[in-house]
Amino acid sequence: MATPTHAPTPDLGDQPPADLADCLGAHRALFEGVMGPGPAPATCFSPGRVNMFGGHLDYNGGPVCPTAINRGTFISLRPRTDGVVRLASTFEGDSFTGSVAGLPDRRLGHWYDYPLGVLRALVDSDERCATALKGGVDIHFGGNLPVGAGLSSSASICVGTAFALDTVFGLGLTPAEHVAAALDAERGFVGVQCGIMDPYAVGFARARRVLWLDCKDESFEHLPLDFTRLSIGVADTGVQRSLARGEFNRRVAECKAAFEILGPKVPGATVLRDVPRETLDAHEHLLEDAVARRARHVIDEVERTFRARQAFRDGDLGVLGEVMSGTHRSFQTLYECSSEELDVLVAAAESSPGVFGARLTGAGFGGCIVMLVAAGSEEAVTERVQAEFRSRYDRTPPVAFFQGDEGPRAVHAAG
Ligand code: GLA
Repeated sequence: MATPTHAPTPDLGDQPPADLADCLGAHRALFEGVMGPGPAPATCFSPGRVNMFGGHLDYNGGPVCPTAINRGTFISLRPRTDGVVRLASTFEGDSFTGSVAGLPDRRLGHWYDYPLGVLRALVDSDERCATALKGGVDIHFGGNLPVGAGLSSSASICVGTAFALDTVFGLGLTPAEHVAAALDAERGFVGVQCGIMDPYAVGFARARRVLWLDCKDESFEHLPLDFTRLSIGVADTGVQRSLARGEFNRRVAECKAAFEILGPKVPGATVLRDVPRETLDAHEHLLEDAVARRARHVIDEVERTFRARQAFRDGDLGVLGEVMSGTHRSFQTLYECSSEELDVLVAAAESSPGVFGARLTGAGFGGCIVMLVAAGSEEAVTERVQAEFRSRYDRTPPVAFFQGDEGPRAVHAAG
């Protein structure tokens, strides 16, 4: 296999990419140079995602509301007949060569652990998949999704790989099975205990819709969002706090502690999300102060996320913006997962004409904010947010705008 031409990993601050179809066509054209001559590959697209509503609710069994975005992973693939598997990427120098019969059962410590984990999950899932995939495959990955900006490149590549293999090998899988393979890969193979939100957001994406997912019973629905009226903006503080992982784990533990005390007081409660506000009010004195604040955030945030669901149904962008900003206040005061830089970005966004609302997205303690922005205001908002941030920190935060996306799809059939 030839070493792929190295492209720089996409950055949030990059110029908006060329037309998606052109990018995918260009990616497909690289295949022969990397994998060698033969029939033209099939090429698929798999989006990234951004979470807009339901902050720190997934691990408390609450609702979340992410949307897939129109940047993601490009996947070109061609079946083989000799049982060999080869995986290459435009962004990485190292490639994988192995065999379907001898796939590793845990991560090797490379970027290709993600697609390899998916392949492994599918081969192990049932006899039919194992038989269909036994001839092997060449897969070449690329994309235009900024990496490290909290846009879930891992769910994009995992769900996309399951989708692409299903499409090319006629595995007859459902989107739920693509999501299951992605979760198996991330949890079982790569070893990251990720939540269900990200693969669901990618695998169940629909055009002009956001996903409203109940993390307690995994029920979901699609809610309308008129992307002709708005853009989803993301701005990056450029600060990844080294404490983030530890603080995140501490929040998870605090929520667990709150549930251990409050849960038994609510018949049938299985997750913190089931605890009503009155129960917290009546028993708050039994909780440590910080634990009580975390529980209050969860209870309020569940209510806000239901309010957002109604606002989507009503097409009320004003209420959606209020909910987002309300979430950020709660992150500042109750969940204590914001940072000075995030607050500066949110305040700058909120004071910009054309912004309905803004909040940190992802775990917090650094990272990115998400903003709901009226179509046509993107440039003015970028200038204002960057100018305010620069006046405090003497550097310019990258800002990008996204539209929604319809989810994984084959763009070019095998030729
Ligand atoms: C991180 C986690 C997600 C979710 C968010 C907070 O990004 O990976 O599963 O808990 O934080 O909403």
